[in-house]
Amino acid sequence: MVEPDVQAVRALRADFTDAGYSVDRLTELLGPVPMAALGREQVLPAVQSARAAGSEPTALLARLFLLGDILTPAEAEAALPRLGAEQAQRAGLLSADVHGLRGAIDLRPIDTPDGAFYLAADLGEATTGRAVERDHVLGVGGASRTLAELTVRRPVHRALDLGTGSGVQALNIAPFADQVVATDLAARALTFARFNAALNGVELDLREGSMLEPVAGERFDLVVSNPPFVITPRESGLTEYTYRDGGRRGDDLVRDLITGVADVLAPAGIAQLLGNWEVHEGEGPFDRIQQWLADSGLDGWVIQRESADPAEYAETWLRDGGITPDRDRAAWERGYAAWLADFEARGVTAVGFGYVTLHKPNIPDGAASPPQPWHRVEEVTGTLPGAHTGGLWPAVEATLTAKDALVRLTDTELADHALTVSPDVTEERHYRPGSADPEVIVLRQGGGFGRTVRADTALAAVVGTCDGDLTVAQIAAGVAALTGLERDAVLDSVLPDVRGLVTDGLLRLPRR
Ligand SMILES: C[S@@+](CC[C@H](N)C(=O)[O-])C[C@H]1O[C@@H](n2cnc3c(N)ncnc32)[C@H](O)[C@@H]1O
Repeated sequence: MVEPDVQAVRALRADFTDAGYSVDRLTELLGPVPMAALGREQVLPAVQSARAAGSEPTALLARLFLLGDILTPAEAEAALPRLGAEQAQRAGLLSADVHGLRGAIDLRPIDTPDGAFYLAADLGEATTGRAVERDHVLGVGGASRTLAELTVRRPVHRALDLGTGSGVQALNIAPFADQVVATDLAARALTFARFNAALNGVELDLREGSMLEPVAGERFDLVVSNPPFVITPRESGLTEYTYRDGGRRGDDLVRDLITGVADVLAPAGIAQLLGNWEVHEGEGPFDRIQQWLADSGLDGWVIQRESADPAEYAETWLRDGGITPDRDRAAWERGYAAWLADFEARGVTAVGFGYVTLHKPNIPDGAASPPQPWHRVEEVTGTLPGAHTGGLWPAVEATLTAKDALVRLTDTELADHALTVSPDVTEERHYRPGSADPEVIVLRQGGGFGRTVRADTALAAVVGTCDGDLTVAQIAAGVAALTGLERDAVLDSVLPDVRGLVTDGLLRLPRR
């Protein structure tokens, strides 16, 4: 990748626009099966579909920049009529060999809730068939998409993307941030980010440097980071890929980020990160991450999505680095042994992966600080209904708003609120055959994190009546009259669950 040339970038943009190079057009053109195969990093079905589409401009662009296919000079000219194949080669976008012309980088449209952008990154292993280079600049992958889907899209003044790589997160947040600062240790990554900013007509303040150093003393309303969190054995001879490996021992980099990010967060600021954390022998699965939250000085919420044992972890990251037992058994065994030895040296029994949200509470003038920070660490596995449908970040935002409101409400005050059941909540009742009373009642959230909550009949009755008119106390009085219990006994039994349901967005507090 060479530094962006303004003329070339403009011409490229115009070619994309004229061709209608978009996610929708690609899906329409390539078809659902090839698109699904692409999601599994298999390009062959998509190459076949794109070739069958002949000289259709999006098909030609896809073959060049998405699928690693070879085009004739005439086809490359047809794909890039304004830029031209020769200028594209000079700009480092195409490379030529005896067989024809191919894309030198991956360049694809990315959809966001605020519109689409184009993203350039290095070609991945699926298109080149080779292990990636040490200084590989990552395109949009599963982790990048996840962080983008989690990022709270609330208008902010200043936002930071730490470890920006291609700039994908920075471009994702640019529509709702007045200023975006994006940092990276790797100059090569910043060249891609600069190219992508120019291609999309977005202003990014790009800075080279490690971790929080380039922004020391500054404040941000939003910090996002998909950091190089992979735990890699040191002094092992294994390739240290800049995109995944920050050069520190164990999970120190993620710890340092979690415990240090408060320094750059403005009041009410949110930091959203992905990470890995080790579980050490004799400790509970969340002890270390709990300690990091405590040391952050912030409100914090960790959702562990996966856990791998040391061997599974080693296999995943060896394969990610292009080392497989079929390609090179000796390298596979050396690398595998190095990973196991590294984990053993620290007594690591498992490695967790998940989402970390940190929040600096905004304490209104004159209000007392909460007695202690709000911390929540949980495991949420399986498919999330809000993923890929735009429903994850609203669920994160709802929880942050609810926990701030709830911390200021005593039980009596909460009971005086008229709550509303979220429209995506359904209730399931399971009966023993022939029984008139349900054995199990489950409240199920249809969007967001897809929470399910076991409810007894009192809680189900209260939730079922929360239509925004009656307060929880009034509803409890009605339930008490029907069941022969005291109103306060009903309230005592349901209020802890009501708090949980509000925190998770199944019940909503009235808007102020
Ligand atoms: C996993 S990639 C994330 C790229 C992109 N933000 C995304 O979401 O796809 C991590 C990025 O962190 C950068 N990086 C590595 N070590 C770093 C450090 N010590 N400080 C800042 N960035 C670093 C890498 O160069 C890489 O671009």
